[in-house]
This record gives sequence, C-alpha cells and structure tokens, in this order.
Amino acid sequence: MNLFQNKTIVLGVTGSIAAYKAATLASRLHQLGAHVHVAMTDAATHFITPLTFESLTHRRVLRDVLALGADSEIEHVSFAKRADMVLIAPATANTLAKLAHGFTDDVISAICLDTRAPILLAPAMETGMWENAATRDNLKILTQRGMFLVEPNAGHLASGASGKGRMAEPQEILDAARHVFARDGSLAGKRVVITAGGTREAIDPVRVISNHSSGKMGYALAEEALSRGANVSLITSVDELPNPYGAEITRVVSTQDLYDTVLGEMRGADVLIMAAAPADFRPASMADRKIKKEEMAEWNIELIRNPDILGEVARVRANDPANAPRVVVGFAAETNDLIQHARGKLERKNLDMLVANPVPQTFGSDNVKATLLFKNRNEMDLQPMTKENLAEVIFAQVEKLLK
Ligand code: CTP
Repeated sequence: MNLFQNKTIVLGVTGSIAAYKAATLASRLHQLGAHVHVAMTDAATHFITPLTFESLTHRRVLRDVLALGADSEIEHVSFAKRADMVLIAPATANTLAKLAHGFTDDVISAICLDTRAPILLAPAMETGMWENAATRDNLKILTQRGMFLVEPNAGHLASGASGKGRMAEPQEILDAARHVFARDGSLAGKRVVITAGGTREAIDPVRVISNHSSGKMGYALAEEALSRGANVSLITSVDELPNPYGAEITRVVSTQDLYDTVLGEMRGADVLIMAAAPADFRPASMADRKIKKEEMAEWNIELIRNPDILGEVARVRANDPANAPRVVVGFAAETNDLIQHARGKLERKNLDMLVANPVPQTFGSDNVKATLLFKNRNEMDLQPMTKENLAEVIFAQVEKLLK
C-alpha cells in the first residue's frame, strides 16, 4: 500500500550539510506520488540551491515568510492548512530551538506553528550539539507535544569527527514518514504475528538442512501490515532482507525455535500468518564437531519429525481460544495437486485462509501465482502478481475475516 500517493508534504530543508540528502528524499517522495512542496531557510540555500528541488518536484520552493501565493493568500498559511505532513530534513539544532519556543521568523517555523498536520523531524548536527542539554530539552518539549522524530545515526560527520548526529538516510526517513501516516490505518491497535523464511536444521556445527524459501513473502506481508497501522511481530530466519521499519523482530534458526516463539507471540495476537517454510524434519542428533569426509564413504542421516506449528495452534484454538489469534492464515507450497492438498491442509490445520502457491516457480521469485482458499467459501484464483500486491490482497481478506 502506497501511503504517499496524493499526499501533500511540506519538506522543510534547513541549513546543514545533510541538505544534499534532502534532494534524494524530495525525488523519492515525488516518485511515490506525493505533492512535494519544499520550504527552505536562507541558510539551507548556501548548501543546496532551490533550483535542485524545483527540478525534482516541479514546484516552486517556498523561501519567504511574507510571500503571497497566486491566490494572494500568505503562502505559509496556505501550506500550513493544506499539508498532510510537514517533514523537516535536515532539522538543525537552531530549527529545533525555534520550534520548541514558537518562533516564526522563517517560512518553515511559521508553517510548523500554524499547521495541524503531523510534523516529522530528522535532525542533523554535531555530536556536541545533539548531546547538549538545550537540544535534549527542546526535543523533549517537541516530542511531548506530539512531533515525531527520526533519530540521527552515529558515524562520520562532515567536520571529520565521528559520533551521533548524521541525519538518518532517506530510506529511514521515508519509513518513519510511512509509520506516521499509518498510525490511524485500518489495522491500528491490532497485533499481527508473521513468520518468514525457511528454517535451518543443524547436522553438525557447519552443515544444515534447509529449503529454498527466501522470506520475501513474509517481509512483504509485514510491510503491508505496518502500512495499515498494525503492531507487527515478525519472526524470521532471514538475514539478507532489510528489517521492516517499526516491526518487532525475533530471529530464529530451527523449526523448534520457530515453534517456541510462535506459541509465545501468538498470545494476545489478532492475526497469525505462517508464511515461513519450516523444515518438517531434523537430524535425530547433531554432531558436536565437523564430520570429516575421510571418516565415511557415504553418510546416511536419520531424520525425525519436527513439531507441526499450525497443528499446535489449531489445538490451542480449540481448547483455549482466548489465548489464540482470531484469524490464522497458512501457506501451502505444492508441486502437484495444488488445490486438493491445500484444501486438506486448510481443514486439518483449522485455518481461516490458506494461500496456495505452485513450486518451484514461487521460491525466490518476485512474482507469484496464488489461489486463496477459505473455510466456507469458494477459492479465489489470482492472476500472477508481485509479492507486495499479493500481500495487499491477503490483508484485504484478513480484514474481512476480522470483522
Ligand atoms: N507449517 C507449520 N509447521 C511445520 C511445517 C509447516 O506450521 N512443521 C506451516 C507452514 O508455515 C505453512 C503450512 O504449515 O503455513 C503448510 O506448510 P507445508 O509444509 O506445505 O505443510 P505440511 O503440513 O508440512 O505438509 P507437507 O509438507 O506434508 O505438504
């Protein structure tokens, strides 16, 4: 779900070397379909020119607190009213001080004092300024008044020093902005537990049994749930994908880890989506040192069954429904007789919905063909689509099941 489409965003750029990153931010927001109006302080124009932003956003930059717009309305008043969000990136220590004390001597602080839209701050400054009691107090005032903050990172500063104060990267700021928009989404207040990735079962300290699941579907589901305002717990075995911003992440390795974590996390959850591909079997024992190939001509590994997580969830739902999620969704990856196997799983595991995918086509790919099966309804056969779009379709159905 693209929460930026058609949103009016005032991007305030103040006088810091990090202003160059605001160009990427303006461009990304524009590409996401937002109406981006950049406002700059005089100091900011020493670091980056208004022409850069005007070229990227196709809109005139606001600079003058006394300027009149085309309709003869004071410009900062008009933008304070029209904004869906005011995002200040970079926000200098001076700007934070002005906002905390209600000054309006530049176009950005004037918009901030007047607007009812959420304000998101992405500070950038030297570590000394960031740690100074004056800045700490100002930020406390601002966040207590309801302004949102995307904290600076620690690292190399333009001065050559190293410490906290580097403005967050454009992607982190976009994620934080999405989080702000999502807070009154259709799943606000709901807790959603999602599992992702294939589990790994150790044979010895270096070898594992695993499968081809990439985890991308689970991550796309987590992003979608976050965009709808849910509190998301993502239980994952994947290290390669970026953490979805705002999700609570638990890393697991084996099916037994996943089992223990899911059964703990599902208490108090509204929705559980098992997009993970847990290994059904594990070696009966794990060697405590690396097995050397000289030691054996061939190697027969005895495998024993892992617990069936959804099977246990179904048992808890039947015996103790207060401690189980209201909606449970499973996945089935099948090489043959897809619908027949999927229907059997839906019933056996007492699922509200099952997403059936043909494999190997689905593993690792960005596009999927899926059929959705429900308890008392006909199945929905979907056209091939991206995992992001499938996540949207799945959550549209989950929301119906929650009603
Ligand atoms: N699953 C589970 N616990 C397992 C294995 C799978 O909860 N030990 C979940 C998966 O996350 C998925 C669903 O059950 O949501 C179906 O997984 P799948 O491996 O297709 O089903 P199995 O019941 O293991 O059946 P089989 O492997 O025999 O096809």
